[in-house]
Amino acid sequence: MKPLITVALPKGRLGNEVCEKFKIAGYSMDETISDTRKLIFEDENLGVRFFWAKPSDVHVYVERGAADVGIIGKDILLEYEPDVYELLDLEIGKCKICVAAKEDFFDNKAKTLRVATKYKTIAKEYYMSKGRKIDIITLNGSIEIAPLLNLSDVIVDIVETGKTLKENNLVIVDKIIDVSARFIVNKSSYRFKEKEINKLKQALESRG
Ligand code: PRP
Repeated sequence: MKPLITVALPKGRLGNEVCEKFKIAGYSMDETISDTRKLIFEDENLGVRFFWAKPSDVHVYVERGAADVGIIGKDILLEYEPDVYELLDLEIGKCKICVAAKEDFFDNKAKTLRVATKYKTIAKEYYMSKGRKIDIITLNGSIEIAPLLNLSDVIVDIVETGKTLKENNLVIVDKIIDVSARFIVNKSSYRFKEKEINKLKQALESRG
């Protein structure tokens, strides 16, 4: 029997795009989509087992070997720097990490800048490179509210369509980096299941 490859998929917005990518690659994802309560889906014929995880948890499963491979945003890789191989840019889930603020924002360099974000590492590195003193305010979601309620001066967050910023009268102050979904692999899985993992990688790569 061929070894089973366990694949960690990110739930939510990126998950839908990832499903399409696997479908194009020849994997039937019908069961994974229709049954939203079940968490693990096995396809013995194809030798794969899929499961859904929070996007920010995918690397934890892969780094520790509970999953052999996973799909994850480059933003999460930059933030947590997990010890995994990054084998492929899937070129989906394209967005950018930006600094954003209220339209009338003025950066008073005499003051410590209050930065609300869930990307602590990325924000720290960005402002360190600029020699700017900051106070990080860690939030887990709906970051855009922070400057509106004067919890922070700016935010560092993902911008995809720009709709959330626009609807909250916020503007981009600077783009930090472009990001997209990546195919990551557990280091020891790659040693023992290299053939199967490469087959999966090629399937995702070659069919758009
Ligand atoms: C992300 C991000 C922004 C929004 C940007 O939030 O944090 O809030 O998407 O997308 P847009 O540019 O297309 O409007 P997400 O939906 O992941 O939820 P969150 O606020 O809980 O992080």
